[in-house]
Amino acid sequence: MNILQINASARREGANSTQLANTVVQRLTASNPAAKHTLRDLAVTPHPMLDEAALGALFTPAEQRSPEQAARVALDDALIAELQAHDTLVLGVPMYNFGVPVQLKAWIDAIARVGATFRYTATGPEGLLTGKTVYVALARGGLYRDTPNDSQVPYLKAMLGFLGLTDVRFIYAEGLAMGEGPKALALAAAGVEIKTLDTCR
Ligand SMILES: Cc1cc2nc3c(=O)[nH]c(=O)nc-3n(C[C@H](O)[C@H](O)[C@H](O)COP(=O)(O)O)c2cc1C
Repeated sequence: MNILQINASARREGANSTQLANTVVQRLTASNPAAKHTLRDLAVTPHPMLDEAALGALFTPAEQRSPEQAARVALDDALIAELQAHDTLVLGVPMYNFGVPVQLKAWIDAIARVGATFRYTATGPEGLLTGKTVYVALARGGLYRDTPNDSQVPYLKAMLGFLGLTDVRFIYAEGLAMGEGPKALALAAAGVEIKTLDTCR
């Protein structure tokens, strides 16, 4: 097992989503002692936004790219190669303003690349990141699980599924802004969820 952990909180310290992602990794490594673990903390190394310069670089044929364009594409290449090299993905994901953190969106914008992580066929798009398992540890101030206001889970299911990542398991810690008691209960419940995770691939 090769675990890639992506921390998406903007906080380097004290992030609930990071704490949960760490617990998932501990759980996975406990049942797979030979597992290798790579950490990418997007608060420490945020990926650059998909802006006009990045799009220009991506849509310029490799042999015609300027050194700056080549360097920009290489940043995305590195994230794609990193993801391809791992079979297990652990995402720590806070809810920010009903969505995923911009840091995670920038990572997704980098790894979603036609010809590398998905392709179009005569019958439609096909994800190329197959055979991997994804654990998503969600941290939220309020309560959104299974409600129409939870835009994160449908988005992540659709986006990851588009890339071939169809085995996605969500762990929820909700109500973290609803007082110390509810927060402690929510983190404890998430801990139990993690303890009882099916860690088989
Ligand atoms: C900028 C910002 C926006 C937030 N927006 C939401 C939100 O829309 N819904 C929600 O339930 N909680 C929201 N929260 C609360 C966070 O989801 C919660 O504090 C969570 O623990 C943050 O993740 P972290 O502890 O991993 O950093 C927001 C927090 C911040 C800082």
